[in-house]
Amino acid sequence: MSDEKPDAAALLHLRAASLAKGEPLALPITPASMFSLPGEPEAGVDAYGRMSNPTWVALEEALGHLEGAPALAFPSGMAAITAALFATLKAGDRLLLPADGYYTPRVLADRFLTALGITVETRPTAQLAEGGFDGFRAVLIETPSNPGLDICDLAEVTAQVRAAGGVSIVDNTTMTPFGQRPLALGADIVLASDTKAPGGHSDLLAGHVASQDAVLFGAMRDWRTLTGSIPSAFDAWLLHRSLETLELRFERMCDSAGEIAARLAGRAGVGAVVYPGLPDHPQHALAARQMQRAGFLIGLMLDDAAAADRFIAACPLVEPTTSFGGVHTTAERRARWGDAVPEGFLRLSVGTEPVEALWAAIDAALRKAAS
Ligand SMILES: Cc1ncc(COP(=O)(O)O)c(C=O)c1O
Repeated sequence: MSDEKPDAAALLHLRAASLAKGEPLALPITPASMFSLPGEPEAGVDAYGRMSNPTWVALEEALGHLEGAPALAFPSGMAAITAALFATLKAGDRLLLPADGYYTPRVLADRFLTALGITVETRPTAQLAEGGFDGFRAVLIETPSNPGLDICDLAEVTAQVRAAGGVSIVDNTTMTPFGQRPLALGADIVLASDTKAPGGHSDLLAGHVASQDAVLFGAMRDWRTLTGSIPSAFDAWLLHRSLETLELRFERMCDSAGEIAARLAGRAGVGAVVYPGLPDHPQHALAARQMQRAGFLIGLMLDDAAAADRFIAACPLVEPTTSFGGVHTTAERRARWGDAVPEGFLRLSVGTEPVEALWAAIDAALRKAAS
């Protein structure tokens, strides 16, 4: 499998390829719990809404095309992470989590996995390979990490995890398949919160997993069916629709983020600017090698919490929200959730606004926040 970008043109025509005359080009929604099921159940025939649904199947074909592997849709990114962890781990196993990645998997592990006899350890993303992976059954990797945007070498880490007999699980939420292809770089499982850029319009929660490993894939599918961790037909339909514009949105967001990060880095009154596309990012060379784009997230250091809040309040084109990856530019002080970042650190998620209008609004708000 290639680590190049997925074929965005083929994605748009996936459904059309199997249409009969008179069928709609756009995907219909099938909200159904029951399906006609005379006689015996058969593989490939929808039977009950917790087991399968035609709208998910279409969504999973699109997700599978993007990931280059069979995919399963989930009702949130955390549902996808939970499926990957529970499909992989059993009592007595060791799990390695990123110390600086999205915090909820660490809370989940503390709250539930340790009680089941799983030992949980953490390491910073930039030093993930230090110490090796002997004895770990599963390693969750998030690169670039949210919110610090640190990066680890996916090919190196996944090869080492495999050599040590473990399973590598890559959370690709901050990049999407158009920015990074973890399976091509050796991951056993890739997953993402599709609540972010894949959904893109801040109106749905979703997630997915994908894997070429039939045993892991089967276990995650069983987890979904048995726990009922399924997306609704409507959310699956909405995400399918959003995926059709993901490449367009992602490219625009990355172009704008690159431009804005460079201008912020040279601007008086702004502290550190963290962006994998900037030459002073500690893993810039690695980012250029393993990522197709540098992403749409920028870490921005302002003087303190008050300055950061003043900036957000002063900018009409930056919305004060948690989460990221939508068409609207948003920003958040991550220290308010307890992330290990300074009080004045903002995670800026660049949206699809025309870049000059966005820059003018950001520049004016920074001036106002400083005065
Ligand atoms: C990197 C990362 N992974 C997973 C998640 C969880 O996704 P969801 O909120 O869709 O459950 C998030 C949410 O912010 C995230 O940032």
